[in-house]
Amino acid sequence: MLNKMFTQNIVSKFNNIQTPFYYYDLDVLKKTLKALKKESDKYNFIVHYALKANANDEILSSIKSFGIGADCVSGNEVKKAVEAGFSSSHIVFAGVGKSDKEINYALDNSIFCFNCESIQEIEVINELAKNKNKTAAIALRINPNVSANTHKYITTGLEENKFGINLWELDAVIELLANCKNIKLIGLHFHIGSQITDLNSFKSLCIKVNEIQHWFSHKNIVIENINVGGGLGVDYHHPDAHMIPDFKQYFKLFNDFLEINPNQKVHFELGRAIAAQCGALISRVLYIKKGVNTNFAILDAGMTELLRPALYQAYHKIENISSIQNPESNIQHKYDVVGPICESSDSFGKAVDLPETKRGDLMALRTAGAYGEVMASAYNLRDRVKAVYSEE
Ligand code: LLP
Repeated sequence: MLNKMFTQNIVSKFNNIQTPFYYYDLDVLKKTLKALKKESDKYNFIVHYALKANANDEILSSIKSFGIGADCVSGNEVKKAVEAGFSSSHIVFAGVGKSDKEINYALDNSIFCFNCESIQEIEVINELAKNKNKTAAIALRINPNVSANTHKYITTGLEENKFGINLWELDAVIELLANCKNIKLIGLHFHIGSQITDLNSFKSLCIKVNEIQHWFSHKNIVIENINVGGGLGVDYHHPDAHMIPDFKQYFKLFNDFLEINPNQKVHFELGRAIAAQCGALISRVLYIKKGVNTNFAILDAGMTELLRPALYQAYHKIENISSIQNPESNIQHKYDVVGPICESSDSFGKAVDLPETKRGDLMALRTAGAYGEVMASAYNLRDRVKAVYSEE
């Protein structure tokens, strides 16, 4: 089966590399970034990359070279962004549980903005900024109570989720801010969830943001920045057909439906849409085992390398890339593709159609560039998974 990401040439190179490993096609990443920049620049939108999706040095350096900012959710991510050369004036820091140490580190580096998620957090940041004789720029992360129509574990913008400040708390927040001398309110922040493929969810977000903005303007509070978060989904089922997400429709939608005041800046925090399609987990078949109703293809990668299927029942396209070298083997068989970990949930797919698969074949789990390597663990005392990059 021929596809665009893997050629015979690339697969022969893989034969000499110890599996499992993540393979990153930097050309795919660059094409994705180029498309993203072209569409976001049309409207002067500012994009921050969500480091949580993938914080590898090579990936970060490519992203940074396109003039994109950094969206961080821990002190170590802020540190990583600073070390990777992102300017502090392009770093935002979100998260419901920022520790004092993390806040102090971000204050020392004068980041662009803290996205604040609770009343108590605002009080703490004010106190810590006061100790340093600094002013912290903050945006209020508001929980807009908008459904993202995605997996329940990656929905964040509903009242039942732990994220953000609820709408009914806003009066109290405004009162508090009047007494916080070391805080400057510079914006509003929203994020409704991840892997969103129905753009109508973003339209609902825009409508809600407009309403919330009216509330602030009635109180004569000027909002310089609107951050609408990330969440744009990718096509896990057809990675080659949809290698680059539809940034055109996505950014156009915000331009069409968001009421943007003059001089106001609109920010985005995209992770998956930037990094997912350029990465694949490459693994070798250790054994083929006959089951009662199916054959098992047992790989040398498991939930320790790619957790998403076990954690969210997520789908990743599985390809036998050794079969590229043997194109006449096109009869399909069904396999349950599993990992070596001592957990029944360590499965990548049931009844997957594959050409005849044997011990030693190389398998690719596609669309794994985002939330793949970063979520790897050492459970079962597994070795840390390595990264391999395409030659540009
Ligand atoms: N901004 C905030 C505040 C976020 O919480 C997230 C993701 C993003 C931006 C980036 O979202 P993206 O554009 O990547 O959808 N581990 C899960 C995904 C968790 C996403 C968490 N927050 C997965 O593997 O699907």
